Amino acid sequence: MRLENKTAVITGAGGLLGRTTAEVYAREGANLVLTDRDPEALEEATKNFPNERTLRLGADVTSVTDTERVTSQALQKFGAIDIFFANAGIEGFSNEISDYSLDVYNDVMDINVKGIIIGLQIILPKMSDGGSIIMTSSIAGLMGAPVNIAYAASKHAVIGLRRSTAIPAGKRGIRVNSLHPGFVESPMLTRLMSQRGDLDEVRKEMTARIKLGRFTDAEEIANAALFLGSDESKGMTDQMLVIDGGVV
Ligand SMILES: NC(=O)c1ccc[n+]([C@@H]2O[C@H](COP(=O)([O-])OP(=O)(O)OC[C@H]3O[C@@H](n4cnc5c(N)ncnc54)[C@H](O)[C@@H]3O)[C@@H](O)[C@H]2O)c1
Repeated sequence: MRLENKTAVITGAGGLLGRTTAEVYAREGANLVLTDRDPEALEEATKNFPNERTLRLGADVTSVTDTERVTSQALQKFGAIDIFFANAGIEGFSNEISDYSLDVYNDVMDINVKGIIIGLQIILPKMSDGGSIIMTSSIAGLMGAPVNIAYAASKHAVIGLRRSTAIPAGKRGIRVNSLHPGFVESPMLTRLMSQRGDLDEVRKEMTARIKLGRFTDAEEIANAALFLGSDESKGMTDQMLVIDGGVV
């Protein structure tokens, strides 16, 4: 098993990509600390996970107190943190920049950027040497998204966090990489698509932009997160993995 004796903290584990990655990590032998600000969604998404190897915690990534609690309970139960998958995120709202709500902008930046910074401040110092940090960015972190201004800005910012953190973390052998999913039909993407018009029409337009001619499966993102979390990628830091079927 590729993650035996490793403990992973996964944020946003009640959502599609977090939960699917958690499933793959569980199959590969990891101990799991699964967090989400929606504890009911988390419970429902992970109810079949092996209990002795799973800790589920309701926690908001923007809260210092919650993140401290997650870290101390993870260490108490499993004795170490080897992988930190900073995956929780929100989409904001689709709107032209002239009409973009600054309140929505603040929420998106708080969760998608400050949420990761808080994790880096609190979890990183407690991680084992040789560990792996994976930050979820997006293809919107690599190209413009004219009606998703805040989302694109936040996902570009993740690259800055990765680049800045990889330097000091490398001194302890901790790797820091970013993951850039393309279109995966999660509740988040469906919400965004329905803001843009008829769902079937929007899906058709988006599919036309993908070289492989189809949306990406959550398992394909989870497999990339498995590679980045495992020792198979131990020579790799401050890099990105783009899993988008060829949009970028
Ligand atoms: N689905 C896609 O097409 C896609 C593409 C690129 C990047 N992403 C990124 O992947 C990550 C996961 O998205 P998903 O598609 O699984 O969406 P999702 O909506 O299914 O899951 C997101 C989860 O994050 C949780 N969350 C939101 N704010 C939180 C907070 N403050 N604290 C703790 N948990 C919080 C939500 O409750 C939810 O369970 C996000 O960072 C997203 O931006 C998704």
